[in-house]
Amino acid sequence: MSDKQNVIIFDTTLRDGEQSPGASMNIDEKLRIAHQLEKLNVDVIEAGFPIASVGDFEAVKKVAESIKGPQIAGLCRASFKDIDRAWEALQYAGERGRIHTFIATSDIHMERKLQMEPAKVKEAAIAAVKHAAQYTSNVEFSCEDAVRTRIEFLAEMVEAVIDAGATTVNIPDTVGYAIPHEFYEIISYLKQNVPNIDKAVLSVHCHNDLGLSVANSLAAIRAGAGQVECTINGIGERAGNCSLEEVVMALRTRHDIMPYTTAVNTEHIYAASRLLSTITGITVQPNKAIVGANAFAHEAGIHQHGVMMDKETYEIMTPESIGLNKNKLVLGKHSGRHAFVDRLKELGYDLEKEDIEKAFVRFKALADQKKEIFDEDLDAIVADEVVRIEERYKLMQMNVASGSFAAPTATVQMEIDGEVKKGAVMGAGPVDATFKAIKELTGSDAELKQFSVGAITGGTDAQGECTVRLSENGRDVIGQGAHEDIIVASAKAYINALNKIASVIERTRVSL
Ligand code: KIV
Ligand code: ZN
Repeated sequence: MSDKQNVIIFDTTLRDGEQSPGASMNIDEKLRIAHQLEKLNVDVIEAGFPIASVGDFEAVKKVAESIKGPQIAGLCRASFKDIDRAWEALQYAGERGRIHTFIATSDIHMERKLQMEPAKVKEAAIAAVKHAAQYTSNVEFSCEDAVRTRIEFLAEMVEAVIDAGATTVNIPDTVGYAIPHEFYEIISYLKQNVPNIDKAVLSVHCHNDLGLSVANSLAAIRAGAGQVECTINGIGERAGNCSLEEVVMALRTRHDIMPYTTAVNTEHIYAASRLLSTITGITVQPNKAIVGANAFAHEAGIHQHGVMMDKETYEIMTPESIGLNKNKLVLGKHSGRHAFVDRLKELGYDLEKEDIEKAFVRFKALADQKKEIFDEDLDAIVADEVVRIEERYKLMQMNVASGSFAAPTATVQMEIDGEVKKGAVMGAGPVDATFKAIKELTGSDAELKQFSVGAITGGTDAQGECTVRLSENGRDVIGQGAHEDIIVASAKAYINALNKIASVIERTRVSL
């Protein structure tokens, strides 16, 4: 094994990650994430599932047209129609376009879902790969539910698709069932028993149902897998996918016993994590490895003392290595545009001039009311002023009367499709009254599934941050809003969720 064994990082935040409940993104949001992945220098960006909807197709096409470094992959079932549609979008990436086709290979999926005999599944896979190979030599094939596939049949499938022209063969743990030593054995078996295995890159794609997706991916790499499929913050179907930041930092930090490298610019990890949370509204748990708020915080006095004497006593990697500058400058009302823009850049926000202007105006207004402006405040400003574009519904003004005596009443004025509307509604409390007023004005049928309020930073002058999860026609969206007044923040979060319902990519359910 050479010391310079590079592992290909295949990011699927925009495809499998987007399958997280509430993580739907519109085309602009997908593009923003894609640009951040470009900065991270991942090798492959899986941009979507082009046949799933017109919106998905457009998003893959836009990413293929705009992103210059990484390869761009599009997912498709083992069907000619899917493959043709995928290439229609991917062709704009030229030689960097990758067709990723798949079919399930486990007995349970073949019998119960596909209702196909194994021989027919193999035939369909071979035909799909050959068809894709007419467009590009960059063809990936996935054996869905590979971990629960009979190992002899898995080997037969891998050999057949490599013969048909697949240059990457992916071994997904679709249901997150594997244990690390088992995954090691599966990859080792394929390495030893598939005669043409050296003609393709073996890839792993692990889900996190047992919390083992990163461990399984590392075991697979150790057994000879050359590509890892992962997502920012580990978002994805159910319990999520292997987390990019964890697998990449594990390889970097434990290079002493895992002699593999990746091309990822790890200094952009923290910004990527924040951007994704800002866009999707899915926050990172504080104790999440690498990017959680507590990942580099030392609470116990004994630890703090140790770190002061020598960081390495309790830090196995530096915050700077993921782009987290602990000596961050706190901004205030005397901070100028220059300091503001510099800080945004350090946080990974590369904004257009007019977006900087909008954010700066909001920053100044906040700084008038709040002594210190922290990074978290800036995230909220960017989310509110820049990321949340294309608003069908806009909050203009609101006023709420509440207390222990009067019946809570909310008066809300909104702009809806360019028309100003106003309403006053009573409720059980100020938030209930506000939401009812918005519902009445917008005529929305969306069901409120979750509502939470938090303070972005400490202090009674902190901005309140609200998260709202709404569900409409079986689709969940998450809205966020921040304001010094938590009732206004709640209204903004609710309206943000309604705007997302109106703008996220409509997706036809594609049965996998
Ligand atoms: O989990 C899975 O099996 C997948 C495949 C489509 C690669 O996401
Ligand atoms: Zn998956």
